[in-house]
Amino acid sequence: MMPAITATAPGKIILFGEHAVVYGRPAIAVPVDQVSARALVMAEPRRPSGSVHILAPDISLDADLCDLPDEDPLAMAVRGLLSALKIEQPPAFTLQVSSTIPLAAGLGSGAAVSTAVIRALANFFGVLLPDDRVSALVYEVEKRHHGTPSGIDNTVIVYRMPVYYVRGQAVQTFRVDTPFTIVIGDTGVASPTSLAVGDLRRLWQADPERYEALFDAAGQIARQARQLIESGQPGELGPLMDENHRLLQQMNVSSSELDRLVQAAQNSGALGAKLSGGGRGGNMIALVEPGQAEQVVGALHNAGAVRTIKTVVEKTKE
Ligand code: MEV
Repeated sequence: MMPAITATAPGKIILFGEHAVVYGRPAIAVPVDQVSARALVMAEPRRPSGSVHILAPDISLDADLCDLPDEDPLAMAVRGLLSALKIEQPPAFTLQVSSTIPLAAGLGSGAAVSTAVIRALANFFGVLLPDDRVSALVYEVEKRHHGTPSGIDNTVIVYRMPVYYVRGQAVQTFRVDTPFTIVIGDTGVASPTSLAVGDLRRLWQADPERYEALFDAAGQIARQARQLIESGQPGELGPLMDENHRLLQQMNVSSSELDRLVQAAQNSGALGAKLSGGGRGGNMIALVEPGQAEQVVGALHNAGAVRTIKTVVEKTKE
């Protein structure tokens, strides 16, 4: 019997520059290995070729590929990969998908699931797809999640390393000189990125000057943050996070739950805090001294966080 093939992909957080990145400004994101999406592919030699079954218990999906609509994200990932490999009639298989990344929470669950699916299937067909091709395929699926993705989510998740991302430019990684600790706090409010991105687009269309200025300021913060991370001064990132959060509030993508968690982190010894990802709900992040993490975690729970994750952005290898 053919063994099952699995692939995993991490979650992600955006440290600086979400939303502004959709409008061409730089942003910084890092993978989060504490949560992940996983895809498993099993050959089904007894079923007729071309038969593809998809199981995703987390979202109560148990269906044949042929019964799934074009816009279903899992079906898109599978069809996208089959068409990229020019496979019209695959040997029968079952694809099983699971994820510990909360949905619609700014942690990249959509891009991570697509990445795991595309990697597992490519391996199943014996093809080693380079990262840039996986990323391009995931990006196509991302376009369904929201019409104008910048491409940062698929990039950081597929390459699995810190990225300094500018839309339309080659992937840039950068050096992390000194590790730093981030606490992630989940508001528990699910909010699809598409909503916040769409609303902000309407605001920008109505008053481009005001929003371009906010995007410029966020881009400037991302540039400064990169320098601080590269030169071993991550402790100085705190005020930049606070300022980036204020800009996101002015972009109208924060929420009372996010603001409450950000404030709780700031009041309990975090060096800085901001929402992360699409906003409106989902997650916020706080920069902490390692010894302060437990205190901030406690404060976040007291302020309503439904869960917290501690993650360390590690020094990059030479
Ligand atoms: C989502 O993780 C980040 C946003 O900037 C959207 C995007 O870049 O596509 C809100």
